Formats: sequence, C-alpha cells, structure tokens
Amino acid sequence: MDWSQRTVLITGASSGIGRALALELDRRGAHLVLAARRREALEAVRDSCMAPERHQVLVLDVEDAAALPGKAAEAERLAGPIDILVNNAGISLRGLIVETDIAVDRRIMEVNYFGAVALTKALLPGMIARGDGHIVVVSSIVGHISTPMRSAYAASKHAVHGFFDALRAEVHDKGVRVTLVLPGYVATDISLHALGPDGNPTGQMDTNQAGGMAPGLCARRMADAIERGRAEVIISGPYERFGRWLGRHLPALFRIIVRRERPK
Ligand SMILES: NC(=O)c1ccc[n+]([C@@H]2O[C@H](COP(=O)([O-])OP(=O)(O)OC[C@H]3O[C@@H](n4cnc5c(N)ncnc54)[C@H](OP(=O)(O)O)[C@@H]3O)[C@@H](O)[C@H]2O)c1
Repeated sequence: MDWSQRTVLITGASSGIGRALALELDRRGAHLVLAARRREALEAVRDSCMAPERHQVLVLDVEDAAALPGKAAEAERLAGPIDILVNNAGISLRGLIVETDIAVDRRIMEVNYFGAVALTKALLPGMIARGDGHIVVVSSIVGHISTPMRSAYAASKHAVHGFFDALRAEVHDKGVRVTLVLPGYVATDISLHALGPDGNPTGQMDTNQAGGMAPGLCARRMADAIERGRAEVIISGPYERFGRWLGRHLPALFRIIVRRERPK
C-alpha cells in the first residue's frame, strides 16, 4: 500500500491512540487531517510529525452530529478526497448503572456511536462514487464483552459492531473496506477523561490503563491491519484476549468471574 497516495482523517487525533496513529501514518507517508475538539493539542501533534506541511488540523466535536457533514466537507476542502476515515474519538465511563444519570449514557452513545455513524455517512457517498475508500472504527475488547462500571461505554462499542458489520456487507462490492479495531488496555489518558456517574471526568488514572500497551505499538499494529484491509483486529495482551475467549466459549464461568471485575 502506497501511503503517500492516501489521505486519512483521524478523529481523536489530539491524544492517546489517535495521536500515536497520526505519528505512525506520518512516518509511513500519508496525508493527514487531524480532528478533535482541542486545536492547540492537534497543532502540537502536527508539529511533532516528520512532515507537518502534509497535514491539516480540523476542529470538530463528534457529539454535534448535525455539524459533521459540514466538517466532512471542510476536511475535503482542506485536504482533497478522504480515502480513509478513522473513527477513533471516544470517551469512557466509570460508574455503576444504579448511580449513573441517563444523560451520561446518552452522551457516551452520541460521542462513541452516533459521532462515528454521522461522519461515516457524510464521507461514504464520495468513497462509493470513487469506488475506493476505507472506514476504520476503534471499538474495544468491550465491544465483545461487558464489564461492570463501563455499561454505556460497552454498549456504545457493541452498537458500533452492529452498525459497521452491516456497513461492511453493504459496501463490499463498492470498493469500500471496513475495519473494526479492538484494543485491550492501552496506556493513554482515557480513564482520566472517563465520565463519572454525574457526567464529570473522574480524573483518575487506572493502574490497568497505566500498565497497558504502549500507544505507539498499538498504532503500528493498527496501521498494519489497515494496510491488510482486515475486517476485525484485536490488539491486546493475553489477559484481555483470555477474557474475550472465556466470554465466548465458557460464558457461564465468565459471568461469574466478571461480577468481581472493577476498573483498577
Ligand atoms: N486506551 C485504551 O485502553 C482503549 C482500549 C480500547 C479502546 N479504546 C478506544 O480508543 C479510542 C481513543 O481513546 P484513547 O485511549 O486514545 O483516549 P484519550 O487519550 O482520552 O483520547 C480520546 C480522544 O478522543 C477525542 N474526543 C473525545 N471526545 C470528543 C468529541 N466530542 N469530539 C471530538 N473528539 C473527541 C479527544 O480529543 P479532544 O479532547 O481534543 O476532543 C482525544 O483525542 C477511543 O474510541 C477508545 O474507546 C481505548
């Protein structure tokens, strides 16, 4: 794959996995549109690139689905046709269902699910018309299993699988590929940014998070999966892979074990 001929729009490029993917694809020669809410952080990512002049910054809020068609058009005005959309922006949850305000559940669905859906719908017609495109979605291992205190987060990632598996089948003959990426623990600020039951960020770094995979390694494996056009890729250590295996093959045992699971 010749990355120098590809323009990639990455949401959530201002930190964590999105930032690491931006740096990796910059090294591979791609043209990038770096998107998120914080302009200064996006500019700092662009400045860290080997070829910052190849890349554009686009301020957007994926929670504002109505604005996303305009933002997609702005991205294409800045950088030309988007060949690859990476729906990576996301927020997590740390709260028991019984104490979490429903507004928090809705917000997480807006960002993690409807944001990805709306941006995809805005760019898909162009990809189909060109007979060429690739939609990448960053889900999670919790897109396959659910664990306590992450209910809406797990639900949003399950929803992503339902939608994008259907999309993959619909556009298979139109030259558009769909890749779902399922990371396990990656050492980013996601738990710091995770919403608590009242909708405010918890501001707490989980030990599992801090000890997770390096974002750079996750990004390299994501870039390889995109190059190969993989339908779905799990990027995790053995602990998370075992959890998924248990959930699939010994669901009754998994349901018992998961009762004690807490973010830590
Ligand atoms: N870290 C992990 O262990 C892990 C595991 C599995 C899956 N994931 C997934 O990986 C993705 C990236 O997470 P991360 O770990 O890199 O966390 P992170 O460091 O907190 O990054 C989240 C990114 O999403 C952006 N974002 C959040 N809300 C947004 C909004 N409303 N509009 C636009 N951008 C928004 C943030 O940028 P701004 O604040 O500048 O808007 C930031 O760039 C998420 O989808 C997450 O669910 C992470």
